[in-house]
Amino acid sequence: RVIAPQCLVIFGASGDLTHRKLVPALFELFKQRRLPSEFALLGCARRPWSDDEFRGKMAEALASKIAENQEAWDQFVSKLFYEPVDLQQPEDVVRLGKRLETVDQQCATRGNRTFYLSVSPKFYGSGCRALADAGLLKDPQRSRVVIEKPFGRDYGSAQALNRVVKSCGQENQIFRIDHYLGKETVQNIMVLRFANTIFEPIWNRNYISSVQITAAETVGVEERAGYYETSGALRDMVQNHLTQMLAITAMEPPGRFDPEAIRNEKAKVLQAARLADEQEPWNCCIRGQYGPGGSHDAPLAGYRQEPGVDPNSTTETYVAMKLFVDNWRWQGVPFYVRTGKRLAKRLSEVVLTFREAPVHLFDAATGGPTANQLILRIQPDEGAEFRFEVKSPGSGMRSRPIDMEFSYDESFGEPSDEGYVRLLADAMLSDPTLFTRSDEVEAAWRLYTPLLELIEDSPWQLPIHPYESRTWGPAAADALLARDGLLWRRP
Ligand code: BG6
Repeated sequence: RVIAPQCLVIFGASGDLTHRKLVPALFELFKQRRLPSEFALLGCARRPWSDDEFRGKMAEALASKIAENQEAWDQFVSKLFYEPVDLQQPEDVVRLGKRLETVDQQCATRGNRTFYLSVSPKFYGSGCRALADAGLLKDPQRSRVVIEKPFGRDYGSAQALNRVVKSCGQENQIFRIDHYLGKETVQNIMVLRFANTIFEPIWNRNYISSVQITAAETVGVEERAGYYETSGALRDMVQNHLTQMLAITAMEPPGRFDPEAIRNEKAKVLQAARLADEQEPWNCCIRGQYGPGGSHDAPLAGYRQEPGVDPNSTTETYVAMKLFVDNWRWQGVPFYVRTGKRLAKRLSEVVLTFREAPVHLFDAATGGPTANQLILRIQPDEGAEFRFEVKSPGSGMRSRPIDMEFSYDESFGEPSDEGYVRLLADAMLSDPTLFTRSDEVEAAWRLYTPLLELIEDSPWQLPIHPYESRTWGPAAADALLARDGLLWRRP
């Protein structure tokens, strides 16, 4: 697939995401020779930088990557430009239009444009509107908008934002990004399910007893307190990344691999999902917040002591919950979802636990559970493993579990690209398969509405459970599973 000549315009070019993820991803695409030679990156933000200042800032931020390949950078950097733009100022947007025409002539980018909104979420709607009003979205074949998460704050605001965005262009011009969908291992869930025949017959309530979806991080809030205090783990991770992993794990097989067929199935499964107890959500959701921890030599501050965080903050940095998917495939199978910052290990995975053998003929050598498990390792150690029972060597007939493993690293050698590399390329290719459609994003917000309302109206019913940094989260989250006779996986 070949990316057509074009100009990528990044709004929010002075922000964190641009130098941490977007420009490195574009540089990677450049090194892989996947960018067309007629390509330009136009950074836009309010700061009055020149092209050279922007190039200098990016060079500073990418110093270690550049050192590995100075020659490639020297070529790439000539494709970087900058224009001071405040999207709230109509005259700035008119000036942007003129600058884009100049760039088109300079770089032969032929009026083909991808606009990336990496600005504060409160400007997503007005940003799209400003581009549409300036006539920059009127050609659906040659203009598209990428919108970062979070898309809305709840069901109502996501619907309202969708209305605005759709009034600015067609759905196929809008690319709502979720970088988890850019991960090879998340895409691999589809390949594993739909390119093999052995999984599909058992991928349902008859064989699977429960599903666990985890995204555990060791980092804390870092320098993002301002954003995180208004978001919390539910909005930051669960509504998007974890819900997308759930959708791909639970969706029905699509008839074709095309954007609409895939997204129809994802939207359908999210519409069938619900909290395990919608009437009394406190029975199925635990919120936590990290306290201090770490070792004597390397102590870690608690969330409330982090710079920029309210010392009485009740923002959750951990969420665990139980969901059901009310359809024929999954009726009655619990989906346990958890995420947290400052946990014991960095680990994202999907674990399918199968029903136990109906009759236990053999004693378990380990005394542990004997259910089969399929573990889809999203990161790190990208791969998968299947756990099953084998005969424990020696006299007698005792069984013990072993793991059959597939590792991306061992099988393919080269490290996979970062999610943003794949997604930026796909957006520039106008391929929306790995982007969230409006109905999906709304279904995802609707799913968590009972929780968001409860947190808003009567937060004491969903109290914050403190947990020590570098542990596996609050004990209350263990109790959530213990009530069902289960344990969280702690590899
Ligand atoms: C982002 C969140 O979307 O995902 C961050 O805003 C989080 O808070 C990050 O740290 C996790 O992404 P990854 O790819 O490191 O698992």
